[in-house]
Amino acid sequence: MNGDIDARKRAAAERAATLAEDGMVLGLGTGSTAALALVALAARMRDGLRVVGIPSSRATEMLATQLGIPLVTLADHPTLDLTIDGADEVDPALDLIKGAGGALLREKVLAAASRRLVIVVDDSKLVRHLGQRSALPVEVVPFALPTVVHHLREAGLRPVPRQIGETLTVTDNGNHIIDCHTGPIADARALDRQLRAITGVVDHGLFLGLTSAVVIGHGQDRVVVHPRGEPGTW
Ligand code: 5RP
Repeated sequence: MNGDIDARKRAAAERAATLAEDGMVLGLGTGSTAALALVALAARMRDGLRVVGIPSSRATEMLATQLGIPLVTLADHPTLDLTIDGADEVDPALDLIKGAGGALLREKVLAAASRRLVIVVDDSKLVRHLGQRSALPVEVVPFALPTVVHHLREAGLRPVPRQIGETLTVTDNGNHIIDCHTGPIADARALDRQLRAITGVVDHGLFLGLTSAVVIGHGQDRVVVHPRGEPGTW
């Protein structure tokens, strides 16, 4: 990882970890920035913080276990106090594209079940319009893959099933992902409805109206917190 970007991610992750309070049930995000938040949380736990977490992926479950963060499930706690997660893009309204790491469905379940969703990013993730630099991932049941690709192509979304080598990737939920190269998205809410209407689509990486605050790591250890309702100026 680029050293400077790594430092920006770490600074944002460490600030976000200070938001955890004793007794909280935390949603644990996925990706390199969320992982740094887990490391910061574990450090606070060594100093006495008592929290439990629900992981958004098997990768995060493994990391949290290694770090000694006690894990619970949605069956134990159907609502959460705070989820800390990364993002691929953040627009000035704090809407997001997520899912480059393939965990978008569980991440969205935790985000929707949380009283607060705090997003941790370095400033390279800030965009004027969603879709301008990242592909939009769409999670689909395997049986429906060809027909969903057809629908997405007809809609002009330039779909590419996600593969490692010749093999389609499989999510923690046993589904496939189709990356849509949309370019800047003019109306994310309309696209959300359009994607949801396609049978076989399980969910997608647009996280709209879910973010409570975004914690942004800039250069030289400068961290800016943008709460919801105070739109970003980028
Ligand atoms: C995984 C995600 C990640 O949070 C997103 O891809 C950001 O990852 P990173 O912090 O490694 O850039 O949505 O599904």
